[in-house]
Amino acid sequence: MRSFIAGLPKCELHLHIEGTLEPELKLALAERNGVPLPHSTVEEVRAAYEFDSLASFLVGYYDGMRVLLTEPDFYDLATAYLRRASAQNVRYAEIFFDPQAHTSRGVPFDVVIRGLRRALLDAERTWGVRAQLIMCFLRDFQAEYAMATLLESLPYREWIVGVGLDSDERGNPPEKFAEVFARARREGYLLTMHCDVDQENSTEHIRQCLEVIGVDRIDHGVNALEDPALVAEIARRGLGLTVCPISNGYVTGDRKTDAIRRMLDLGLRVTINSDDPSYFQAYVGENLEAVHEALGLTAAELVRLEHNAFEVAWLPRTIRDALL
Ligand code: HPA
Ligand code: ZN
Repeated sequence: MRSFIAGLPKCELHLHIEGTLEPELKLALAERNGVPLPHSTVEEVRAAYEFDSLASFLVGYYDGMRVLLTEPDFYDLATAYLRRASAQNVRYAEIFFDPQAHTSRGVPFDVVIRGLRRALLDAERTWGVRAQLIMCFLRDFQAEYAMATLLESLPYREWIVGVGLDSDERGNPPEKFAEVFARARREGYLLTMHCDVDQENSTEHIRQCLEVIGVDRIDHGVNALEDPALVAEIARRGLGLTVCPISNGYVTGDRKTDAIRRMLDLGLRVTINSDDPSYFQAYVGENLEAVHEALGLTAAELVRLEHNAFEVAWLPRTIRDALL
């Protein structure tokens, strides 16, 4: 089944580009930009990663970004990811980026997006892998800053397919960003939000995504299974759920594969993704293998997972059909 998984055409829908920063590239960019780091080897960088919760993961995630300063840095970051993704037979990826994690450090928005955009265009030409960008707002910042970021993105509207919401969920419910997401919808962006696993108010946050925001997709969303009304509504709307089992294992101690089994059995459009593959040392292929190992999936079920992802991808039908 290993080679079956390797050869399966894949679609990645939950991937933070800043979470693909491998230690080798981090060290190289630190050197190029003259950014002092407390580590000088790959092993030292990895040894410093220690997370057992979303909050503790986010500390290292934001710290790693200090080496990303110029347009070529963002180009190199996205190119490295797309090279690896295409080697795993990823045909299409929707890539999150966190502009506020950079503008808050003085790196201009246009530096970030131009580097990423150029990498996407070159990767499609070089490896045939398609990708689109989803701009995430950091939910632990004020809604006003998210709105300002949304307005700053408008000149690049054609380069961004949708908006998302990530970072620390505690005390930062979806409804805090209702106005921002309503405006994003009016500007033509598609909408998704993280409802991370086992947060304080996970089911209430999923309810707000459905009833207040009107999302087109939910990132993670595993806790919906606790409430039959949420499951029914997600099924009725045919919403995709972008689940990240190895990431879930790091931040909760449980890869939530039993939940994936139930979602499959309920006919929900569950998809398997990598989230932050450098930090969790697992790209989408390893995530599929982990689910297969835990559940003993059939080939048809593995195909179903990827089929779900292509189905809920934010692509025009003709392009999706060509990729399938
Ligand atoms: N959850 C919330 N914020 C994030 C994540 C995540 O899994 N990865 C990067 N930022
Ligand atoms: Zn995520």
